[in-house]
Amino acid sequence: MKTRVAIIGSGPSGLLLGHLLRAAGIDCVIVERQSPDYVLGRIRAGVLETVTTGLMEQLGIDAGLKAKGLLEEGFNLADGERLIRIEITRLTGKHVVVYGQTEVTRDLMDAAPERGLQIVYEAKEVALHDLESDRPSVTYLKDGVEHRIEADFIAGCDGFHGPSRKAIPGAQAREFEREYPFGWLGILADVPPCHPELIYANGARGFALASMRSTTRSRYYIQVPLTDTLDQWPAARLWDELAERFDPISEHGVTGGPALEVSIAPLRSYVFETMRHGRLFLAGDAAHIVPPTGAKGLNLAASDVAYLSDALIAHYRHGDDAALAGYEAKALARIWKAERFSWYLTKLMHRFPEDGRFEHRMQQAELDYVASSEAMQRVIAENYVGLPL
Ligand code: FAD
Ligand code: DHB
Repeated sequence: MKTRVAIIGSGPSGLLLGHLLRAAGIDCVIVERQSPDYVLGRIRAGVLETVTTGLMEQLGIDAGLKAKGLLEEGFNLADGERLIRIEITRLTGKHVVVYGQTEVTRDLMDAAPERGLQIVYEAKEVALHDLESDRPSVTYLKDGVEHRIEADFIAGCDGFHGPSRKAIPGAQAREFEREYPFGWLGILADVPPCHPELIYANGARGFALASMRSTTRSRYYIQVPLTDTLDQWPAARLWDELAERFDPISEHGVTGGPALEVSIAPLRSYVFETMRHGRLFLAGDAAHIVPPTGAKGLNLAASDVAYLSDALIAHYRHGDDAALAGYEAKALARIWKAERFSWYLTKLMHRFPEDGRFEHRMQQAELDYVASSEAMQRVIAENYVGLPL
């Protein structure tokens, strides 16, 4: 098979890129290792910046977002029993939208056939070839048969564990990493949220987040040691823990109920600066990971593909390769700022096992400063709603 852009991975970055290219009349094919149900079963991000909602709108795939997205004009940082409200709309003129990554992915997947976006699911042993030539290709096995896609460009949108980043020679890798000594245990349940807005809480028992997917579906997370496993956390224990954290500070208190999903995710900061190698371009989690505290992962994937699709469109429409040449530098400038904010909020809101009483006082002093300073609140709000493209 021949196409212009071969896209590896049908997460948010691959799907958005595919749709943006198709909307500009550029042929592309997505190859995805998993089945559609598996892709939709992953419960991940929940907060969308304007860059992400703007792309969905531009594509005209925003009916679900408009009908079900919850517009958020503020969120809260909790310091013990005090809620510090960050009034994002008053401070920045912008808002964020609560609409799950699962829903974004489903909307993009559902719109693919009518827009001629071909997705090959359950493609095994995906491999990249001849990246430094002008005819790179992707091979994969489907139902035991080997297929090859010849393309002008390959977009590596295959997440942190995919083959694209690994296809770049180690000698060229510029890699930065920080692992955190804890993970987030998350639960999704059809119960009303405890509070009308998100609460990021730093408490004596560690970090906790109260989020939601709708007025009837809640998403909560708590900080757990990396050694904890799901069988140590039966739903009853988790609901008790959440009630302990949020009952004193939330408007309605925590309502428990059967879990739709429970999972533990490790926290990491990671940047692979080599986002271009020959005809391969990386986007999204394939090139960078942020700890989820700033809700930036999915939104960074969206800004990467906004830059990359513009650059590919300039190449095909005008034969202009300046934006392709500048993609890495442009994307990294935004990525590092989002890395900084995610790292900052993670440091501010979690209990680190290596920290002592002094570091804890530093967190309290900083939260006190945030509570008393509109300038600090504006800095947090500006980063939370997302820096401009
Ligand atoms: P992905 O969503 O990872 O998509 C990559 C796709 O590539 C997948 O569909 C995968 O199956 C496919 N793929 C992988 N290997 C291959 C292969 N060999 N061949 C073909 N296809 C392949 N962000 C937040 O903002 N808030 C959160 O709460 C949050 N929670 C998260 C929890 C977890 C467990 C993880 C892993 C991430 C979380 N994130 C969160 C981050 C956010 O979900 C990601 O930033 C976002 O999914 C990035 O999108 P992506 O398309 O770049 O990568
Ligand atoms: C959610 C996840 C986040 O990482 C975050 O910062 C806010 C909300 C969520 O899943 O709802």
